[in-house]
Amino acid sequence: MAHSGRVVGLGFLPLRGAPYHHCSGSGAQTIRQVERMKAMSHRRTIRVIQCGLGPIGLMITRLLTERPGVRIAGAVDVDAEKIGRDAGTLAGRRKPLGVTVKGLDDLDALLRQVQPAVAVVATTSSFENAFPLLLRLVTAGVGVVSTCEELAFPWETHPRLAKRLDAAARAKGVAVLGTGVNPGFLMDFLPLALTGVCREVRSIRVERYQDAAFRRLPFQRKIGAGLTPAEFRRKVAEGTLRHVGLTESMRMIAARLGWKLERAQDAIRPVIATRRVATPRLTIEKGRALGVEQTGRAWANGREVITLAFRACVGQPEPRDRVVIEGTPRIDATLAGGVNGDEATCAIVANAIPAIVGARPGLRTMADMDLVCCSAVS
Ligand SMILES: NC(=O)c1ccc[n+]([C@@H]2O[C@H](COP(=O)([O-])OP(=O)(O)OC[C@H]3O[C@@H](n4cnc5c(N)ncnc54)[C@H](OP(=O)(O)O)[C@@H]3O)[C@@H](O)[C@H]2O)c1
Repeated sequence: MAHSGRVVGLGFLPLRGAPYHHCSGSGAQTIRQVERMKAMSHRRTIRVIQCGLGPIGLMITRLLTERPGVRIAGAVDVDAEKIGRDAGTLAGRRKPLGVTVKGLDDLDALLRQVQPAVAVVATTSSFENAFPLLLRLVTAGVGVVSTCEELAFPWETHPRLAKRLDAAARAKGVAVLGTGVNPGFLMDFLPLALTGVCREVRSIRVERYQDAAFRRLPFQRKIGAGLTPAEFRRKVAEGTLRHVGLTESMRMIAARLGWKLERAQDAIRPVIATRRVATPRLTIEKGRALGVEQTGRAWANGREVITLAFRACVGQPEPRDRVVIEGTPRIDATLAGGVNGDEATCAIVANAIPAIVGARPGLRTMADMDLVCCSAVS
């Protein structure tokens, strides 16, 4: 489909966070953790509970039921429609899994009963909102892998809560990780890994351009497709329309490369249709939004050192993920077509489960974890 959009300016999103400071989180493996790992390898199967059964939580549940070495032993949600139902059936399996979804009031009893090694948390993008559940889990000695975007690198945006969670996890000898396709991989871990072959790095630019034409309707709605510019502006002002994670990715890159950021910004604007565009699910009239363009920019030593360009709109030409490193050597790497976000998020969460069991206790990020990779080879 030909692209027919133009971008109109809207201004900047507020960037929370203190200036750069180095994250804590180091420490030797505790005896308790070694014991846990021994117990795990003895038991061989890692017991997991799934917290949050929205579209992503259900896709993860489905994937984990197909993974050897992992067993879904419990599921929790706050939605009354889901509580009491079988998690496997909700996830679209033909046969029930034998795991009944519990409410949050039953979480402590569930943890005592199934003694999971890991909880997968797919409930919210906000670290502040996820915090009570995360703290409850680590305090019970359960490791966590979460899709919460703000957990991907909360050291500078929420330093107090990050330190509290880190301390609680260390005290119990478990690790907590925020990961996903983005943040968690494409706009932070991947460029960091690519700098591994550079003698020096001057700046990093990452592009994630997605064509939303064939994505599910909730995704198209999430990026503002079909809204008038005024409706788009209102949703941005309400905080209900934005990709969460550019700030976390920029902070993660800078912290890992030792760059002291002087300032950073996250600007959002609609991409407006210059003609009528029809998708199988939505028709967008000329003058309405095709989707969103969001750009994260960060400066150090008086120049722009990180640029993260995120674009998700209907009819976006040449969808791709691209990393350009201005350095020696110069790197220009493109994942043609781009990576499917939902699939990749579920996969990285599943792949991180064995890694989190063996990880150094505390609040971990993708920049200080052992390599998360896929061991399910077909
Ligand atoms: N890092 C990444 O790359 C990445 C990629 C994809 C998604 N994500 C994030 O992952 C999260 C999950 O995605 P989604 O599309 O499935 O979100 P969603 O549609 O909002 O579903 C979340 C589910 O969790 C439930 N929930 C909310 N708070 C809870 C709590 N404290 N305990 C247990 N359950 C709770 C929700 O119930 P109610 O609906 O009743 O509130 C809902 O059923 C989102 O925040 C999304 O932004 C991150």
